[in-house]
Amino acid sequence: LPEKSLVTLTINGEKKQLELAPWTTLLDALREYLDLTGTKKGCDHGQCGACTVLVDGKRINSCLTLAVMKEGASITTIEGLATVDENATVQLHPLQDAFIQHDAYQCGYCTPGQICSAVGLMNEGRAKTTDDIRELMSGNICRCGAYPHIVDAISEVMQIDKNS
Ligand code: FES
Ligand code: FES
Repeated sequence: LPEKSLVTLTINGEKKQLELAPWTTLLDALREYLDLTGTKKGCDHGQCGACTVLVDGKRINSCLTLAVMKEGASITTIEGLATVDENATVQLHPLQDAFIQHDAYQCGYCTPGQICSAVGLMNEGRAKTTDDIRELMSGNICRCGAYPHIVDAISEVMQIDKNS
């Protein structure tokens, strides 16, 4: 294996070129090489969802993905979800707003992964009921047990009846 590989990724809309050992995970590339520490490392084994990011709009566990495998891809992390309007005012993503409104976190460690996963869930268009949301979000563990509020926040943004 070469000691370092050159990887080009578009991260939150900006093209970045990184020189990485080929075994560097996407999670470590984000946190250690780009200082994007919003994406969290929980288990580092694909079991908790804390490291969820969007790759070309699809949610993945970045701890299970080598950065070199995503050459040329467009990555969105929690830092890239909000936008800045013409008055330089930050506009949170609707899911970020809903998580705040619904108190959908306690310690907050799982929250970036929950929100990125929920964006991916919306892109998939498969969830029609709150039970679907629960099932399709089951890869994102919350040790604080904020699940009911997380489901409420996502249901509101997806306009799914809370009692479905
Ligand atoms: Fe990736 Fe837990 S840190 S799934
Ligand atoms: Fe603490 Fe989810 S808010 S782990």
